[in-house]
Amino acid sequence: MPVKFEDFDFVRQVVRDHVGILLDTWKTNLVETRLAAIARDEKLASVDDLLRHLRARPRGPLSTRVVESLLTTETSFFRDLHPFEALRQFIFPDLIAQRQAQRRLAVWSAGCASGQEIYSVAMLIREHFPSLLDWSLQLVGTDVSSTMLEKAAKGRYTELEINRGLPAAALVKYFEQHGLEWQIRLELRAMVEFLQMNLAGTWCALPKMDVIFLRNVLVYFDVEKKREILARVRQQLHPDGFLFLGGAESTINLDNDFQPTYFGSAVVYKLRARVGEAA
Ligand SMILES: C[S@@+](CC[C@H](N)C(=O)[O-])C[C@H]1O[C@@H](n2cnc3c(N)ncnc32)[C@H](O)[C@@H]1O
Repeated sequence: MPVKFEDFDFVRQVVRDHVGILLDTWKTNLVETRLAAIARDEKLASVDDLLRHLRARPRGPLSTRVVESLLTTETSFFRDLHPFEALRQFIFPDLIAQRQAQRRLAVWSAGCASGQEIYSVAMLIREHFPSLLDWSLQLVGTDVSSTMLEKAAKGRYTELEINRGLPAAALVKYFEQHGLEWQIRLELRAMVEFLQMNLAGTWCALPKMDVIFLRNVLVYFDVEKKREILARVRQQLHPDGFLFLGGAESTINLDNDFQPTYFGSAVVYKLRARVGEAA
């Protein structure tokens, strides 16, 4: 049965309260199918019954489950390729030169979904910058979804997920087969830390970052939330750090402190130097 307008509106509000995202109005079918699946799984009589429970307790485990089921969690290894090429050719060589004294480097994948983005960075480092393994190296993935974080921390992927972007040589080197799935080897898993963090809520204590991936996340927020998140990202980034956004995202008209810069075919956002600061 199609979800009623007032029920869709209520679910939209629950999602907004939890994660700051306003679901598109055309997503009624998605809400319908996800609610029906959860009602069945929770052995509830109907979607109406599920909605009654949600209304009685809009901040419980059931609402978390509903919200997580409605998030877009699409990702892949080496997604869009250009950012990883920019890291390899320009950004890591530059940071390695700049940070020789501290020998410390931190990379953050914000909205990391099932972890492919930050594991791609880990593979790139092992492959091309092994000297960084002797540095204090922090690779952090954060997401609001506990389901995604569990999968990311486990590091186990289906054939379909592996086939999306992972070079064959990396598969052989960094994964082992477990039945129909592929498990990331411990040496790679040990390089990465996953934390639960709501970008629209309280942020956990993180170190200042040299590189931040905030890709395909901002797109789901309204303009005000985008501005808020970018302002906080700015605080989290070293003044000479690098920010990557998704292909359909930009800081233009949102945050003038970031300046888009081209590295090969990748757009990278750098903080503008403040008056009186060295460039
Ligand atoms: C489309 S995926 C992008 C994954 C990866 N960054 C990429 O580009 O391949 C978006 C991720 O953002 C997460 N997300 C959505 N709202 C969030 C919020 N308020 N705080 C943190 N993560 C959020 C979702 O759970 C999802 O895993």
